[in-house]
Parts: sequence; structure tokens; C-alpha cells
Amino acid sequence: MKSYFRKEIDAIAGYVPGEQPKLANLIKLNTNENPYPPSPQVTEVLRNFDPDRLRRYPDPTADALRELFAASVGMKRENIIIGNGSDDLLTMIFRAFTSPELPVAIFDPTYSLYPVLAAMQGAKVIKIALDRENFSYPEDAVSRAGNANLLIITRPNAPTGNCASRELVRQICRDFDGIVLIDEAYSDFSLDNCADLAAEFDNVLVMRTFSKGSSMAGLRLGYAFGNENLINGLMKLKDSYNVDMLSQELAKANFVDRAYREKCVRQIVSDREKLATDLTALGFKVIPSSTNFLFAAPPDGDGEGCFAALREKAVIVRYFPGEITGRYLRITIGTPTENARLLEVLKERFAK
Ligand SMILES: Cc1ncc(COP(=O)(O)O)c(C=O)c1O
Repeated sequence: MKSYFRKEIDAIAGYVPGEQPKLANLIKLNTNENPYPPSPQVTEVLRNFDPDRLRRYPDPTADALRELFAASVGMKRENIIIGNGSDDLLTMIFRAFTSPELPVAIFDPTYSLYPVLAAMQGAKVIKIALDRENFSYPEDAVSRAGNANLLIITRPNAPTGNCASRELVRQICRDFDGIVLIDEAYSDFSLDNCADLAAEFDNVLVMRTFSKGSSMAGLRLGYAFGNENLINGLMKLKDSYNVDMLSQELAKANFVDRAYREKCVRQIVSDREKLATDLTALGFKVIPSSTNFLFAAPPDGDGEGCFAALREKAVIVRYFPGEITGRYLRITIGTPTENARLLEVLKERFAK
């Protein structure tokens, strides 16, 4: 059949999300979800929610959430935009700042959705390679970004788990002549973050999600903050009611229970360090992680083989083909029981 699509759409394969298998008794460590439920206060709100309210449209700009997020990063409501997950915000950001004339610069490897969004815009992607052995960042990122209009720093990075230094990020924000997006999807698990750079520089956006540290990947909620002019521009691109009423209420209940969220995060970080030690003892090369996952290369460097062996035992992790990434597995930190089962299967394969 003749194609009626724009040539850019015909040319792309589309983003492939991590698998959401339906099998029971599966150990699912493949999409960096939180192994713990959201705050008990979320259950309370759900229990008391009157369905009659769903007749009405939600607040189009989710102002109650904007106020809360603004207060948490020392900014104003006007500096915040809410998205239906941070992927929704990424779509707005690519539509706003990239085109066939306006390239995007990203580090490599990084979140594989970015090139797909660039392709939809017909925008060129300038890839800035991370170190092949330890995924550290090059000092000359700004000059390597060439004429890009948007530069994305994923901090901490996915799928590698490491962090660009704050000094380097600050230098990029200062020197890059374009928009710098700092994607902080995993910053709940790192020692520091870059929220202050969104206030310091007019060209900087920081983006966060409820999918990882906040245990609400199923809800679809993210937010971005930065200079009011940038936020106003993005507001023009957003769907009128991009975040539904229930999501707004549940996200609020979860966000205010900071003590609970931080307790879950502390547990995950401590289990991450334990798993990193255990994998290293088995001969894995483990990249130091500031996230809720580990990027680890099995002793034989065969990421694909190890992925398949785990899958056979109903333990699902993520494998990214490629000359460098193909040596590794990305393993989400689960509950202690789930991590122990993963390790048991790996011991059968690698223990001497
Ligand atoms: C680096 C990064 N950014 C953004 C996202 C998207 O998150 P969300 O669930 O908020 O759309 C992910 C999801 O895995 C991610 O890894």
C-alpha cells in the first residue's frame, strides 16, 4: 500500500520499550521500576476518591503539583511544567528545540528514546562518545556538540548508571550555546543533583520522573523546571489535559510522604551496593552506579548469552545489543529476595 506517512516516520523503526511480560512468578529486573509500592497515603486517596469527580476535566496545568515541586527546588510555579511521564516532556522538548536545521547532541551510550524522537523531527543526532571502558565523560563535550541546539545530559546516565561530575555539567551549561536538558530520571538514587543549575542558567531545563524513586511508573508523571520563558514555550506544545485528575491527586499524596520514599530509596541503594560486591566476586565488571540498576559485564563478556540464560530461569534483565553495550547487562535492583535469586542463577553459570 502507498504510504501516507511523512518520510521521517516511514524511516524509523519506533522505540522498543522494555518488555512487560505477563508470566507469573517472574523476577522482573528489566525496566528499572521500584520494587516497593508507593506511599500508604496513595491507598488512602484511592479509597476515598469519588468517581463522580471524573465527569469534569482535570486542572490543565496541574497547579497544585507545580506548587509542591516548585517549593522543593526553591523555584516558583511558573518555572514548572508537568508531563504524562517524562517521555511526554521529552516529546515536547524535541518538538520545541529540534528540526532538520537544529540538531541534538547526546552522549553515547544513553537513553535510547532520544534518537527516536530526533528522527521523528528529521533532526540530526550528534553522538558524543563516553569512554569505552568506564563510560566517563569527555572534557570537550561542548566543542564536540558542534552546532546542536539541544544537548542532553542524562545524570545519572542510563544504561551505564554513572554520573557526569557536577563541575563538568556546570561548565557545559555555561559554555553551550543552546538548550541543556539535564534528565534526572534517576537522581533520587544519587548523592547530589543539578536542580540549582536550572535557576542559575536561562538555557537549562532539569527533568524528573515519578517512575523510579517514587514507585509510580504505572501512573505516568514527570516534571521539568527552568527559566519561565522556556516553560511558557513548552506549555504551548503540551496537550491541553496531559495529566489526568487521578494521577494529579495520587502523585501529590506520594510526593508529600517524603520520609517513606526516602526509606525505600535507602534500602535500594544499600542493596545495590551489596549486589555490586557479589557480582564483582563472581568476576563481573560492575560500573559504579548512582541509580537503581547496575550495568555489569559477565566474566565472558557475553551479555546476550547471560541474558538468555537468566531468562530461561524466569529472571528478566535488559540487554542492549552493540559493540560495547552488548558486553553488559542492565540489572534493576529488586527486593533482597529477587536479587538473591538472580545471584543464585548467575552462580550456577559462573562460580568456579
Ligand atoms: C533516562 C530516562 N529518562 C526518562 C525516562 C522516562 O521515564 P517516564 O517513565 O517518566 O516516561 C526513562 C525511563 O526509563 C529513563 O531511563
